[in-house]
Amino acid sequence: MDTIKVGLLGLGTVGTGVAKVLKNNQDSITKKVGKPVELAKVLVNNTKKQRSITLPDGVITDKPEDVLDNPEISIIVEVMGGIEPAKDYIIRALDNDKHVVTANKDLIAIHGKELFEAAQNKNSDLFFEASVAGGIPIIRPLKECLAGNRLEQVMGIINGTTNYILTKMTQEGSDFSEVLKEAQDLGYAEADPTADIEGYDAARKIAILASVAFGTRVTFSDVYVEGITKITAEDIQYARDLGYVIKLLGIANSINGHVEVRVHPAFIPKHHPLAAVNDVFNAIFIKGDAIGEAMFFGRGAGEMPTASAVVGDIVAAARDIVYGVTGRISCTCFEEKPIIKIGEIQSEYYLRLKVADKPGVLASIAGVFGNHDVSIASVVQKSTGKNGKAEIVLITHKVNENSIRDALQIIGGMSIVDTISNVIRVEGGNK
Ligand code: NAP
Ligand code: HSE
Repeated sequence: MDTIKVGLLGLGTVGTGVAKVLKNNQDSITKKVGKPVELAKVLVNNTKKQRSITLPDGVITDKPEDVLDNPEISIIVEVMGGIEPAKDYIIRALDNDKHVVTANKDLIAIHGKELFEAAQNKNSDLFFEASVAGGIPIIRPLKECLAGNRLEQVMGIINGTTNYILTKMTQEGSDFSEVLKEAQDLGYAEADPTADIEGYDAARKIAILASVAFGTRVTFSDVYVEGITKITAEDIQYARDLGYVIKLLGIANSINGHVEVRVHPAFIPKHHPLAAVNDVFNAIFIKGDAIGEAMFFGRGAGEMPTASAVVGDIVAAARDIVYGVTGRISCTCFEEKPIIKIGEIQSEYYLRLKVADKPGVLASIAGVFGNHDVSIASVVQKSTGKNGKAEIVLITHKVNENSIRDALQIIGGMSIVDTISNVIRVEGGNK
């Protein structure tokens, strides 16, 4: 029986997991594919580095040509990360008639079009399951199992680091900076956590999900992004009192042929399925016209969960090679759907304001909201007991974002208003 040979680009966290899964589950993978799948070459930066896995002599190399131009290798797995040289290597692999599996969300979310065109030209497979939500199967379910649906929403907790931070803030009442430090000490958050806490990592993932779900090209720069750095223990406490939890959500909605795509912290009702997704776990909630609501839950990162998704893609590509049907499911961006600007979205809002604690203040503020068609669903007012100040917390009905912004512009300039402490969107229906 001949063997399907795999070339790995990168032997870090994910690459090591891929090598382990291919080795540990070799027999069952051979049966599932119909031919053995063998790790033939691995490209790394530093061949002298101590590794947690031992590979046969001659497998590890620092010469890209040993892998990319190797005529025996038919599947290239890119788990190096970054834009270049990863993009160049993938294009070169496709030009060499190889099939490609990648976990690289940065690359797919920015350069997906170019990469899919290169794959299509060669009738090659380009699979990217691990680029979103690590081990959770979501790309292939959207492209295949749910292909009969018209999807209207994809909404998820797609960053483990921020979910861990928000979970700790909720369960222990700690402040953001305290929990971030703890997450870094535990190795969950990177030394430079910017991409996670500012929402950029989730933005790349929701761009990919929106493209796949709605059949239109959505790139990283199309996504409106807010991170979690402004969330305080007070917001978490108000959310709890009002029957919500705060989560960093990636949200993509398809509305009348247009697409809305954003990442920001949001209040979600305690009974919403996403509200129970805690710690470093991820989950993706979808709505389709046939399936109704469904949720995919699991580990969004880490060596073995991410390797699970990558090896699933290797098996899919290997099966396609065996059956001579490669290039079957390529780019599914068939239409161009305009992106809805953030000011034009509709949402409910949580607003927390510090104001003068005296008669008529609430009425004045309510008047401004009324003039901007912002309807208030509930109000809580607490005296701070300090300097004659009170804290007002309002939840609005569903309104246009521009109306809230315009109203807050005026309210922020009123002498009775000390501070607009926070504005957080409320998602996921009524509590
Ligand atoms: P990593 O631990 O930093 O590993 C990167 C590997 O690539 C290392 O083995 C490194 O070689 C090699 N490499 C980097 N640049 C190279 C170059 N120019 N030439 C040759 N080799 C090079 O990264 P990772 O965490 O495994 O992530 C890999 C990819 O998976 C990224 O796209 C990431 O976004 C994605 N991903 C990661 C996770 C996760 O949980 N980590 C989850 C989902 C997706 P040396 O070992 O010699 O330094
Ligand atoms: N940094 C990401 C997270 C994992 O915290 O979810 C890699 O996608």
